Amino acid sequence: MTNRRKFVQSLGLMTSAFSASSLFQQAHAADFNKMLETKQHLSPAQLAEDEDFWAFVQQGYTTSPNIINLNNGGVSPSPRIVQEAVERYNKLSNEGPSYFMWRVLDQGREPLREKLAELAGCDKEEIAINRNATEALNTVIFGIDFKAGDEIIGTKQDYPNMINAWRQRALRDGIVYTQLSFDFPIENDAQIVDAFEKAITPKTKLLHVTHIINWVGQIMPVAKICAMAKKHGIEVLVDGAHTFGLLDFKIPDLGCDYFGTSLHKFLSAPIGSGMLWIKKDKIEKIWPLVCNDKPRGTDIRKFETLGTRSFPIEQGIGEAINFHNAIGSKRKEERIRYLKNYWTTQVKDVPGVKIHTSFKSAYSCAIAGVSIDGMTIAELDSALFTKYKIHTVGIVWENISCVRVTPHVYTRLKDLDKMVHAIKELAAQAKAKKS
Ligand SMILES: Cc1ncc(COP(=O)(O)O)c(C=O)c1O
Repeated sequence: MTNRRKFVQSLGLMTSAFSASSLFQQAHAADFNKMLETKQHLSPAQLAEDEDFWAFVQQGYTTSPNIINLNNGGVSPSPRIVQEAVERYNKLSNEGPSYFMWRVLDQGREPLREKLAELAGCDKEEIAINRNATEALNTVIFGIDFKAGDEIIGTKQDYPNMINAWRQRALRDGIVYTQLSFDFPIENDAQIVDAFEKAITPKTKLLHVTHIINWVGQIMPVAKICAMAKKHGIEVLVDGAHTFGLLDFKIPDLGCDYFGTSLHKFLSAPIGSGMLWIKKDKIEKIWPLVCNDKPRGTDIRKFETLGTRSFPIEQGIGEAINFHNAIGSKRKEERIRYLKNYWTTQVKDVPGVKIHTSFKSAYSCAIAGVSIDGMTIAELDSALFTKYKIHTVGIVWENISCVRVTPHVYTRLKDLDKMVHAIKELAAQAKAKKS
């Protein structure tokens, strides 16, 4: 065996994508298994309320004890093990960048693709690894051939980067970009599917659907929209920035054609990681955003010619998948939904408080919007931080006006108790001011 092969093999012992020997396996796997063995009798919904188990998960994170971060919808922290992997790969990269990045760490990309594909429930040849949801979705938005007059339907409640991308295509290529507008929460799938269907014309080529609306957390009926679109011979691009690593689903089951997501939200992968899924038979027709020698090729890797980027971040994704898998997708979804319900149910009947998100599990999971009569959104967001050190985000976008609150698996009940206390106190103060 050559020295280089020996070295690469020994490095495999610290490469996250080689799961049998990952940092996670070395540091956490045995404890996780032991803990889960004692909880086997609990369903995911029952385990969602088991504070022993979640305290164990919380210990995997290094979040600040000084602020309560309830803006995980923006970007989520990585567990310690993921951070350590990135730091380790970064140090290694700096020992000899081109050697360690392009000849050594690069070896981890294919195993990582397999791990992502397993989590997504798809063929690994349908997964491209990139830096964020914006990059993934823009690859499709700018990569499809459309002619002037072709129509795309999205919504005013989609993410601005994608709205702007479609607008740019409209300006540049003369496509027609139609935006529906919804008043969320909506607890009726047919209402949403019908609105898309009514907007379809003979020129409609694609529907752009945001899987979870980032502003208020509405879960959109993506599978039903895709089934309807298929009947009309129309493609669907799904913005799954908020669903991959949160909801327990497999991408092919949605019935869409394209799916882009960030990995640095609910999967807790390193900040600056994303993924694009393209149905196998569609890969050939999508032009890469950053060019490759085979722009019309059928190999999904044509979307990964990104130039020099962070290999440590990319390889750190593997440890995030290990951490996620150790918890389990369904258990994670149920816990995060439980946390959202935990705080919203305690404040929903407080006079002056409005929750802008459905309480039904089919329509919401992590994200909920809240507002208080007599306070502007900016005032509420600012009061939560300055008085209670609770970090949230104020949303004023189209017809939506609320403070968005997003817990994650590491969020402690006592932090949500502070949130509940803060909302009650602020609502009482706003009421007193009014009278
Ligand atoms: C619905 C939605 N799509 C896309 C994005 C963009 O994600 P990224 O910053 O990873 O590109 C976001 C970010 O919050 C989002 O909420």
